[in-house]
Amino acid sequence: MGYANKTFRRYALFLWISSLLVLIEGRRPRQPRCPTSCICTRDNALCENIRSVPRSFPPDVVSLSFVKSGFNEIPEGSFLHTPALQLLLFTANSFEAIREDVFLGLPHLEYLFIENNKIKSISPNAFQGLKSLIHLSLAYNNLQTLPRDVFKGLDALIKVDLRGNAFNCDCKLKWLVEWMHNTNATVDQIYCADPPAYQGKKINDLVPQSFDCITTEFASYQSLKFESISVDSFTYKNDDYIVIAQPFIGKCSFLEWDHVEMVFRNYDNISSTSTVVCKPMVIDTQLFIIVAQLFGGSHIYKRDNSANKLIKIQDIDILKIRKPNDVETFTIDGTSYFVIADSSKAGSTTVYKWNGNGFYSHQSLHPWYRDTDVEYLEIANKPHLILSSSSQRPVIYQWNKSQKLFDRRTDIPEMEDVFAVKHFKVKNDLYICLTRFIGDSKVMKWDGSMFLEIQTMPSRGSMVFQPFAVNNWQYAVLGSDYSFTQVYRWDVKKGQFVNFQELNIQAPRAFTLVSIDNREFLLASSFKGKTQIYEHLILDLSN
Ligand SMILES: *[C@@H]1O[C@H](CO)[C@@H](O)[C@H](O)[C@H]1NC(C)=O
Ligand SMILES: *[C@@H]1O[C@H](CO)[C@@H](O)[C@H](O)[C@H]1NC(C)=O
Ligand SMILES: *[C@@H]1O[C@H](CO)[C@@H](O)[C@H](O)[C@H]1NC(C)=O
Repeated sequence: MGYANKTFRRYALFLWISSLLVLIEGRRPRQPRCPTSCICTRDNALCENIRSVPRSFPPDVVSLSFVKSGFNEIPEGSFLHTPALQLLLFTANSFEAIREDVFLGLPHLEYLFIENNKIKSISPNAFQGLKSLIHLSLAYNNLQTLPRDVFKGLDALIKVDLRGNAFNCDCKLKWLVEWMHNTNATVDQIYCADPPAYQGKKINDLVPQSFDCITTEFASYQSLKFESISVDSFTYKNDDYIVIAQPFIGKCSFLEWDHVEMVFRNYDNISSTSTVVCKPMVIDTQLFIIVAQLFGGSHIYKRDNSANKLIKIQDIDILKIRKPNDVETFTIDGTSYFVIADSSKAGSTTVYKWNGNGFYSHQSLHPWYRDTDVEYLEIANKPHLILSSSSQRPVIYQWNKSQKLFDRRTDIPEMEDVFAVKHFKVKNDLYICLTRFIGDSKVMKWDGSMFLEIQTMPSRGSMVFQPFAVNNWQYAVLGSDYSFTQVYRWDVKKGQFVNFQELNIQAPRAFTLVSIDNREFLLASSFKGKTQIYEHLILDLSN
């Protein structure tokens, strides 16, 4: 009994001396006082229910706590006068944001607890300069995301507590997953609240690769003040060029890339009449342009390098080609050919062959049909042509190697009114896009013996449904005379195109992709407005 009493008395005496010391400390003349509503000892201060962050504290204070305070923000540089701080705690306060430079001048701070507040946003530089910070807690706030690199420079961190926040695990949070993989600090288990597909998933278990944050877009780049009907690109002597058929003023217009101004500019023209197609063809080191016209016959031009201009070298038989609609070029076993689709009843789609000196009519196909389009493609490594005509289903011709001629093979069943057929490949699978003016345009896949429909797209005055690839992305663009032009992007998982972007082009007739200086451009000819050039941009949503 007596012993216990004595101990108690000794303890009471200790308490009394301690509080006396506190009082003496607090009353030192030149020392800042302990703010009202705070309780201070030599090392510690605890403030409760205060309205703003006080400016003066005992300078040697090493721990500072704010509990249930009513202030809305912590002003910049609030702790510049307490450089010895090692622990700072905010709990059950009502502020919503942590601004930049709030924790300026705290090189010794090791513990920072900002818990049970209502923090929604944190400045990317909020924790800048906290070199000694080993334990950071932002637990139980209203955080949905964290700014990229908010923990940058916190090299001493060994523990981060982010529990009790409803994180949105979108691309903006990808950096955090990367950081969690690389940091040596322990991060308590935290969970995604959004997006729905990620709800309830542990962020600690996510891998950066699971975020699909790269997207693309076609951005308007340049518009050319003329109408056009065909557009093609070619490479000649290591430079890239574009040739555009202008139907009304009758020109093949050549464009080159201006490396200084970063625009496409005109550098040459071929004058013609009622131009439908200007098709470039490079054979060895020679450049040819096949100029298809509605009136006055079609011609072949050749670049004369010594004269530094394009010179007409040949006329195309006007009895065969009366109303050209499309020109395709191809090589089979090292020999160059081109084929012109003819849309007159008396003319005939005809294959021309290069013999080293000129082009000769090689084979006429499909007489008496009005062909609107011809497509060269390989099916199972064998050369084929698909002809579209307004009065018949698309017909497939196969190259007969011994005869060196195309034989009619089959047609595409149940596909009337197809204006044009264009092909593309995804991995090793062959697909075709079939353009119809009104109704449904279609995508079909080669199954080894025939084309099978896999997808239909509504056509509203469509004259072109052009597939093209940029890097690893496969696109198709379906033009419309009555509505927006729709760009589709191939969805690898679905094995189909999905809607991607709308473009506003008046009466588009042709699309082509051009790569210049590691940039990709999509050129869109317009029959009734300006010829448009878009740039294909790659965007990282996690930045
Ligand atoms: C983690 O610790 C290792 C070993 O101490 C060190 O080499 C590495 O740089 C640290 N990583 C980070 C991100 O601090
Ligand atoms: C080509 O024709 C256009 C008009 O369509 C003209 O403005 C331009 O100067 C011509 N270019 C050349 C190189 O003659
Ligand atoms: C090529 O044509 C010849 C003659 O018409 C024919 O006998 C042969 O079967 C054809 N070859 C193929 C692979 O169709």
